Amino acid sequence: MTSPVTPGTLREVLRFYRALGFESMPLRIKETASAPPERKARALAGLKGHMGTCTKCDLCRGRTNVVFGEGNPDAELMFVGEAPGKEEDRQGRPFVGDAGKLLDRLIDRMGFSREEVYIANILKCRPPGNRDPKEEEIEACLPVLKKQIEIVAPRVIISLGRISAQTLLGTKTPISKLRGKFAKLGTVLVMPTYHPAYLLRNPKAKTVVWEDAQQVLKKLGRKPR
Ligand code: URA
Repeated sequence: MTSPVTPGTLREVLRFYRALGFESMPLRIKETASAPPERKARALAGLKGHMGTCTKCDLCRGRTNVVFGEGNPDAELMFVGEAPGKEEDRQGRPFVGDAGKLLDRLIDRMGFSREEVYIANILKCRPPGNRDPKEEEIEACLPVLKKQIEIVAPRVIISLGRISAQTLLGTKTPISKLRGKFAKLGTVLVMPTYHPAYLLRNPKAKTVVWEDAQQVLKKLGRKPR
């Protein structure tokens, strides 16, 4: 156990070294030894704390809750959707409505639990009437997602739907052309696929989403359930 350093003891230590002839000292702050997942959890909690009072765009006026994102801070697989809907806004959690139930089924079929992956959105506050996010809203909110990605450092991101894929990849290419092909975001692989809300309207597209998910599993060296 190390004894606590007070300004008084620090002054004494510095005087001692000065008496020995030292003019300056290298200052290296030693990180407290903790497992990376704990550090990641702490970093995410700090970021979430800052977001609670965010007023960077007008969506703050209509929100009930900020939907920061949730899951395993050390997840190898991350899902990124578009924006919270009504139920997500009410609960403050991502993908807990009808589209979320479908996402839960995909996660389960891929052999993961919801707690094992990380789930976030491009926007953290609900656009009124679930309209598409505006450019300025994305611009205001994207730094938070980028930070989440940096902290979690997943191996693969499955981006759900057009807005998510186009925003993450900085392109206007249609989702029908992006889906099913790995892209890169720094060192992280991104697999764009259709949004679960689209699948609710077009159940036949579930087949291709499953094909995309299987490519991800192969990359992660995992087998489906
Ligand atoms: N749709 C999204 O894109 N995200 C959610 O969290 C819920 C629905």
